[in-house]
Amino acid sequence: MILVTGGAGFIGSNFVLDWIAQSDEALINLDKLTYAGNLENLASLKNHPHHIFVQGDIADRNLVSQLLEQYQPRAVINFAAESHVDRSIHGPADFIQTNVLGTFNLLESVREYWQSLDDAKRLQFRFLHVSTDEVYGSLQAHEPAFTEQHMYQPNSPYAATKASSDHLVRAWHHTYQLPVLTTNCSNNYGPFHFPEKLIPLMIINALAGKPLPIYGDGQQIRDWLYVKDHCSAIRTVLAQGKVGETYNIGGCNEQANIEVVKMICSILDELQPRADGRSYQTQISFVADRPGHDKRYAIDASKIRHDLAWLPKETFASGLEKTIRWYLAHPDWIEHVTSGSYRDWIKQHYQNESGV
Ligand code: NAD
Ligand code: DAU
Repeated sequence: MILVTGGAGFIGSNFVLDWIAQSDEALINLDKLTYAGNLENLASLKNHPHHIFVQGDIADRNLVSQLLEQYQPRAVINFAAESHVDRSIHGPADFIQTNVLGTFNLLESVREYWQSLDDAKRLQFRFLHVSTDEVYGSLQAHEPAFTEQHMYQPNSPYAATKASSDHLVRAWHHTYQLPVLTTNCSNNYGPFHFPEKLIPLMIINALAGKPLPIYGDGQQIRDWLYVKDHCSAIRTVLAQGKVGETYNIGGCNEQANIEVVKMICSILDELQPRADGRSYQTQISFVADRPGHDKRYAIDASKIRHDLAWLPKETFASGLEKTIRWYLAHPDWIEHVTSGSYRDWIKQHYQNESGV
């Protein structure tokens, strides 16, 4: 049994689906169901005996302690977070609450549980914290990619709260010997990505005939990784990672935003041409830049590659086409997310189930 937090979000739900498909081990999924949590992502697991969903907050110590006591997981994987940089600029309070205080409270509940285990179980237990490359700040064009030794220089409120959570996790290992692992990953993309983020927003706006808003000059660079590759890296770190270590995860896929949007337009031009025969690129619109916009992220993933033999499966071209085909095949998911009706999913589909 493992406990996953934030398993109804973008990466968490991909992780849960892959875990259930590949393992016989049951999983408790603790998620607060903020605007970013969508149980429709997990509809295929309805009534699955290995998926136990519980709506709740990682900061709720009583609830978390009760779950740990009841289910005795051998590992906790923490995906739960406020994750959108633009939202953190407009309203940082939720980010402090979940990313900093939530992680602190989760660590305390987990520490208490871990200390109560017998020797064998205590030795086996792991707390894996899922973090981001944004904690390292921004790179100039000529600088080498982020290694695990790179100085922390977070620039946005989101990045600062994730950096704080990483420091807490590190300190809980150093001071209390809690057996932790931390992963710092680059930008993900793939199925179930909430359309506030660049790639799903561009796909959905393009199909709806809306403008494709590019911040500033569109020359900012991100290092894109297909979400299923991130999930396989997390499984690898959980199974083989060295306690107390951090692992950078990335796909060596640096792309300028404008190029990403042009690639999306070209794939859509092929797969679902506009009625007027013109390219989706005509919808591109340059808008005001994000305040404090980080120029470039790039991950050096040599450590996880060499030490744990992890490699991504998808190239950016193959992953992006898969992603666009997924969105084209799921108009209902898009409609429910854009109309907000995905929030009714709990009432419609999970009524009377335990924990919800
Ligand atoms: P997301 O915003 O899609 O999902 C976050 C999930 O956490 C949601 O289901 C939400 O309901 C839940 N949640 C929020 N606050 C909670 C709380 N207090 N208690 C319990 N659940 C809560 O985020 P994502 O993109 O799936 O990211 C998951 C994790 O991976 C985050 O920690 C993020 O920092 C990290 N990360 C994301 C990316 C990326 O490109 N998306 C890259 C690297 C790392
Ligand atoms: O690097 C990992 C991080 O990647 C994760 O930790 C975050 O949770 C995740 O949201 C993501 O952060 P970014 O800010 O890089 O992702 P976003 O999709 O918001 O933006 C990607 C780039 O595209 C960024 O340079 C801003 C730009 N952008 C974004 C949006 C939403 C636009 O130009 N237009 C847009 O409308």
